[in-house]
Amino acid sequence: MTVANPLEQLTETDLREQRTSVKWHVFPQDVLPLWVAEQDSVLAEPVVRAVVEAMQRGDTGYVATGQVYAEALASFAVDRWGWSPQIEHSAIVPDVMIGVTEMLRLVTEPGDNVVVNCPVYPPFYAFVRSMDRRIVESPLTAEHRIDLDNLDRAFGAATADGKRAAYLLCSPHNPTGTLHTAAELEAVAELAARHNVRVVADEIHAPLVYRGHTFVPYLSVAGGERGLSLMSASKGWNLAGLKSALALAGPEAADDLARLPEEVGHGASHVAVQAHVAAYRDGGMWLDALLEGLDANRHLVAELVAHHLPGVGYRMPEATFLAWLDCRALGIADPPAEPGLVTMSVGPADFFAREAKVGLSAGTAFGTGGKGHVRLNMATSQAILTEALERMGRAASPAFS
Ligand SMILES: Cc1ncc(COP(=O)(O)O)c(C=O)c1O
Repeated sequence: MTVANPLEQLTETDLREQRTSVKWHVFPQDVLPLWVAEQDSVLAEPVVRAVVEAMQRGDTGYVATGQVYAEALASFAVDRWGWSPQIEHSAIVPDVMIGVTEMLRLVTEPGDNVVVNCPVYPPFYAFVRSMDRRIVESPLTAEHRIDLDNLDRAFGAATADGKRAAYLLCSPHNPTGTLHTAAELEAVAELAARHNVRVVADEIHAPLVYRGHTFVPYLSVAGGERGLSLMSASKGWNLAGLKSALALAGPEAADDLARLPEEVGHGASHVAVQAHVAAYRDGGMWLDALLEGLDANRHLVAELVAHHLPGVGYRMPEATFLAWLDCRALGIADPPAEPGLVTMSVGPADFFAREAKVGLSAGTAFGTGGKGHVRLNMATSQAILTEALERMGRAASPAFS
């Protein structure tokens, strides 16, 4: 049995008529929305079946204690990454960002520093700020890799006054699609141990890794024993509306995770857990079909950018369905903005929304290194991608003449 490319099943008209979530409902009707990380895919059949059957059984109560979610993730992790998580050191959390804040709460105090690799997922700034911790930025290199020398200095600065500090690692990295290697992650673990910085790894994009590349779980690397990780089926299988995620602890962080207040788990949805379990257990063929479609899309974007937007920088991602476009050559003004505020109305994102009728995420929201950039979501059909990049090229063409 094969699964058809989930990204090629719905037209723009279908999506406008059928989707009521945020992606298709922020911009005016004449704008193609390629911003927030939702997919324009049809769902995996095993996930739909699990939710429908739960409804039919009336199985819509609270999440039961037990390890069904963790066991499903573990079987996926063994199969895909050759890694067996210690599921006895796991906890269900409502979603990844709530999980991130709860892990940071376990290992830091108000006023402590949290190091991030900018440019990075804007809510990292907003959530960390909202819990009264301070962000310390450690920029990625020009090649979008972790800059280990800079990270060393950032860890030193974050702990300079003897305070506790954490490193919020985005792995794979949003928005650049960087897949951190085992060697990089081992070096991170070594630096974290040297500076006594606690690592919290947001690994939500882990299932979305292209063929020829392998995701390395942070907890699997030498030195990762003191780490905490957040995983979820929500990004891979487009289940953001079905809230649940897993927090995992390395053996030396198990005592920290054991301090997680029981009520944190109450925020997860029992129906969502059933959907996520079905995704991990039975959604492998659908995921492979999605990844094949996304692989074609990331190559299509390379061709379309080269053709319609010469001068715009694009490094093909190794993971995620996100394209990080360096539009600095277009010379569009991009005033400084507060990182963390998701906005589409500044700089090149604003230009493309107004002039090309294409909705993108503004780079400045992703922190230092985001200026002059936009993030484009490739999890859509090739027809929509082609139309969007053609429109962007037409709008930007005066800059090339
Ligand atoms: C890196 C990263 N973390 C977390 C999230 C959000 O996850 P959740 O909806 O489970 O909080 C996203 C969504 O795009 C993301 O890209």
